[in-house]
Order: sequence, then C-alpha cells, then structure tokens
Amino acid sequence: MRKYRIQIFGEGDDHPQILDCEEGEVITDAAERAGILIRVTCANGGCGACRAEVVEGMVGYTGPVSRKKRVDPATGNLKYELLCRATPLSDVVVRPLNGWKQKKQKVWAEIRPNPISGGGTTCQ
Ligand code: FES
Repeated sequence: MRKYRIQIFGEGDDHPQILDCEEGEVITDAAERAGILIRVTCANGGCGACRAEVVEGMVGYTGPVSRKKRVDPATGNLKYELLCRATPLSDVVVRPLNGWKQKKQKVWAEIRPNPISGGGTTCQ
C-alpha cells in the first residue's frame, strides 16, 4: 500500500510535524497514530472543527463533507479541507486552523527497591 508524507504546521511553528499516511487513510487518524491530535468533533465532515489549509499537495475525501465548512467566508471560495475525511493523493503540507497537540504520554510506574526482600525491585 502506498504511503504519503504529511507535514503539519501549527500556529507559529517553524518546523512541521512529519508523519506517514497510508493511501485511503484519513489524515486525522494517521496523525493520531503518530501521537499528534488534530481537533475532531464530529469525524464525519460536518462541523468544520478539523478544518485546515492545504499549503501543498492534494487530498481527496473518504465520504461526503460539508461544502459550507470548506468555504472562506471572506471570499466565498473553497479554501479549506476537512482532515477528518481527507486522505492524501500526494505528499501534503497542512495547516489546521485549530492547531494540533501532542497526545498525552503515559507515565511509566516508578521502580523502587522491594520492601519485603530488601533487594530487587517492585513496580508501583
Ligand atoms: S471533525 Fe467535524 S468536520 Fe471534521
């Protein structure tokens, strides 16, 4: 299966987050797999929470999306893509309007000396 490179820029980011997205996979799913959360509310192309500017490249859609949420209100022209249903058709560079954040990392249990045997370790 073909993979495309996705570059994600947030507000004020000098360097993008870079991840791979498989052909037919939606960009928000690929981002989450890579530990990057893009805001998703409806996940069906209806609300616009995942709206992004595609700076480079092309995307297609895995299902219907709201045309209204893709329009730039200032010009009335299509300007945005909805990443919850967008799948890359090439390498793409995107700038989500609501930015992105790192998925919270799980904290590993602290390893302490075993209080019963006095040796070894125990996990708590
Ligand atoms: S999350 Fe609602 S349109 Fe993408």
